[in-house]
Amino acid sequence: MIYSRIAGTGRYLPERILTNADLEKMVDTSDEWIRSRTGIEQRHVAGENELTSDLCVNAAKVAIEEAGITVEDIDLIVVGTTSPDLIFPNIATIIQHKMGIPACAAFSIEAACTGFIYALSSADKFIRSGDTKCALVIGAEIITKLIDWDDRSTCVLFGDGAGAVVLQPSDEQGIISTHLGADGQYKDLLYYPVGVSSNLAAAGTGDSRIMMSGNEVFKVAVKTLSAVAQEALDANGLSLEDVDWLIPHQANLRIIQATAKRLDMPMEKIIQTVQIHGNTSAASVPMALDVGIRDGRIRRGQTLLLEAFGGGFTWGSVLLKY
Ligand code: UT7
Repeated sequence: MIYSRIAGTGRYLPERILTNADLEKMVDTSDEWIRSRTGIEQRHVAGENELTSDLCVNAAKVAIEEAGITVEDIDLIVVGTTSPDLIFPNIATIIQHKMGIPACAAFSIEAACTGFIYALSSADKFIRSGDTKCALVIGAEIITKLIDWDDRSTCVLFGDGAGAVVLQPSDEQGIISTHLGADGQYKDLLYYPVGVSSNLAAAGTGDSRIMMSGNEVFKVAVKTLSAVAQEALDANGLSLEDVDWLIPHQANLRIIQATAKRLDMPMEKIIQTVQIHGNTSAASVPMALDVGIRDGRIRRGQTLLLEAFGGGFTWGSVLLKY
């Protein structure tokens, strides 16, 4: 049986840090409000000329080095993002060119905050089918370019970053199962009102900002994230005691706490980065994974449950042996 296994990880955060104190000078908010409602203390914001593909390249370089491979080994690139450099060509091809990766399949997936989970699940299927020998999988966003910096209800939440993973085939157990889902009836609760076939003329104007019904999203997020974790465990006949680390989408510390409570999972077994990264959408899970690996908490042989939830709504999980 072929499994796909994580051979290396990496992350990259833009240099500029925006603190809650900085935001207090921009909108009518306070450090106390942001911390108590979201847990967020700071977030990274990309520079004006920085592109999402630049963040991806920096994260991918680290993952490639960690995996002990070269760019020549890569034969698939999958990127989850909502904030690509361009509408086309897809960002995976831009990354391929920037990194000198030889011709191979390269595509991006748009599933909002669940983008990386969708990308990892897709790459897993390519590897297990035998089509792919080495996949570069990335979750990345420069979501702050979609922010209305006068809208205090959203501008305090989001940050930029990229997380990358190198995935290779292995006889040893790696990815155990993946579960993806979506329910388009919730579109109006969380969306960005500019696209190609609708409202293109509004791009860059005051009408183009993230539209979110925070309270409603919060409730569905908690319900879905606990159900998604349970689904992965049930499918494999496991219980939460069998999981060493839960790595959920980092949208809001209160969402993570409420999910943990519903699952009866101790917070000590949950990797948390929302405090220092903010909500980085598709980048949040791979960056949290990398943080846990780098600081030595996540070790080889441990069982990890990755999960995310985002606009659409979309959701998904990846259960794996690291
Ligand atoms: O990745 C998935 C996408 N997004 C999410 O997961 C977000 C999910 N939702 C949330 O995280 C929370 O709903 C928020 C953090 C967005 C908001 O927290 P909340 O506890 O649901 O607050 P609220 O929306 O009920 O607002 C409470 C009050 C309102 O004032 P009034 O109407 O009670 O007078 C808001 O106007 O807080 C006010 N408010 C703020 N005050 C200070 C909203 N934003 C701010 C702010 N600073 N930045």
